[in-house]
Amino acid sequence: MMGLLNRVHMLGVVVVFGVVAVVHGVAAQTMDPRFDTDGNLLRPEGYREWIYVGTPVTPNDMNGGKAAFPEFHNVYIHPDSWAHYKKTGTFRNGTILVKELVSVGSKAATSGLGYFMGEYIGLEATVKDAKRFPKEPGNWAYFSFTSGGSPMMSKEATHGGPLKDKATAFPTAACAACHQAAAAEDMVFTQYYPVLRAAKPKR
Ligand code: HEC
Repeated sequence: MMGLLNRVHMLGVVVVFGVVAVVHGVAAQTMDPRFDTDGNLLRPEGYREWIYVGTPVTPNDMNGGKAAFPEFHNVYIHPDSWAHYKKTGTFRNGTILVKELVSVGSKAATSGLGYFMGEYIGLEATVKDAKRFPKEPGNWAYFSFTSGGSPMMSKEATHGGPLKDKATAFPTAACAACHQAAAAEDMVFTQYYPVLRAAKPKR
């Protein structure tokens, strides 16, 4: 009798653990990119737990006081797209990368003078999707969740206000053209992302 009770108890523990593991897995790995019925990209969630690939920095004070995308750009790729890239060295259909803008906080630390990260001030994204964006170069479309609009496009960009919940794809000339002309690999600036370069399979 005792043995049976113990076994039932154990089963309960296993089931509870299983459910917790599944719920946890879903929370960490969102289904991004997600779109609404009008084709707007919904703001990705949990991207700070995606794979971090690099941090370009274009400080305002080295760009006449106003960089196109100010300050630090922390770039992340979704874990599913990362797994595909590691295996094939290519960006799969459905790839999403985000760049989170971070202000320069301080310019001096006990380690020396430099640029040190301050506060989160904006969020931009790019998605590769052949079905949704058949006419875009490389099938990549570009989005901004930065409050007041992308700093590159809008004088009203407020930096640091609440992020937008959804975003409409920019016209090709606004973003894609420059990526197409200058990015090292399929419209993505891998020349600035050492994590991706190191992960690319050698041919
Ligand atoms: C004048 C050239 C230029 C234009 C125009 C441009 N970008 Fe970029 N973008 C870059 C460069 C260079 C990088 C990498 C270095 C950096 O972030 O400074 C980059 C990186 C990115 C990344 C990170 C992933 C990647 O592809 O490397 C995103 C997301 C992004 N840009 C979004 C946008 C959006 C949204 C727009 C339009 C509002 C835009 N970009 C317009 C030059 C440009």
